[in-house]
Amino acid sequence: MTSALDFIHKFVPGTDSDGPVLLLLHGTGGSEEDLLGLGATLRQGAPLLSPRGKVLENGMPRFFRRLAEGIFDEEDLIFRTNELAAFVEAARAQYHLGSRKIVAVGYSNGANIAASLLLLRPEILGGAILLRAMVPLFPENVPNLAGVPVLIAGGRSDRIIPQESTQRLASMLEEAGASVSLHWSPVGHSLTSSDLDAARRWLGRNFVE
Ligand code: MLT
Repeated sequence: MTSALDFIHKFVPGTDSDGPVLLLLHGTGGSEEDLLGLGATLRQGAPLLSPRGKVLENGMPRFFRRLAEGIFDEEDLIFRTNELAAFVEAARAQYHLGSRKIVAVGYSNGANIAASLLLLRPEILGGAILLRAMVPLFPENVPNLAGVPVLIAGGRSDRIIPQESTQRLASMLEEAGASVSLHWSPVGHSLTSSDLDAARRWLGRNFVE
């Protein structure tokens, strides 16, 4: 029997007993180990939940299939988004997370599936930090994201994520009621300290310690 927890993953319980749980979602070719260090620096003591994407592209883990760079397999994306939502809910029970807010911290492909979770399963996340994200899909119905805080951090010279698509994602989330902060850095696809400082400040503002 398979269970919703059958993602390879790491869970770090942390020391913080009532703040948000960070759901760490790696980029293409990453693993459940990749963002643990980043998560720990964003919010000291926060529990960290870090799954590995189940789709392999030439051996590289991802969270959903793509047909080419920036062109996604929508059917797979919808399936994988629901599968990840089930994992988050199963982990909530398994690790006794009660009603704590789950805040996604996604990079690149991980940011795109986090955006898809917001658009298709708005009940799952209490907030999201989307590092180098684009529009993953156009949902049939506008989700209700009233008051959900979202930080989107883009790179002005990112060659993988088109700036217009990042901007469009921000507008879509705002139209759904999310409280969106957009942070641009004069860099490419790789993260810099400017992104991390923005993420740390945003967490401090939106999720009081
Ligand atoms: C994606 O496939 O989600 C985006 O193109 C970013 C990436 O290269 O992973």
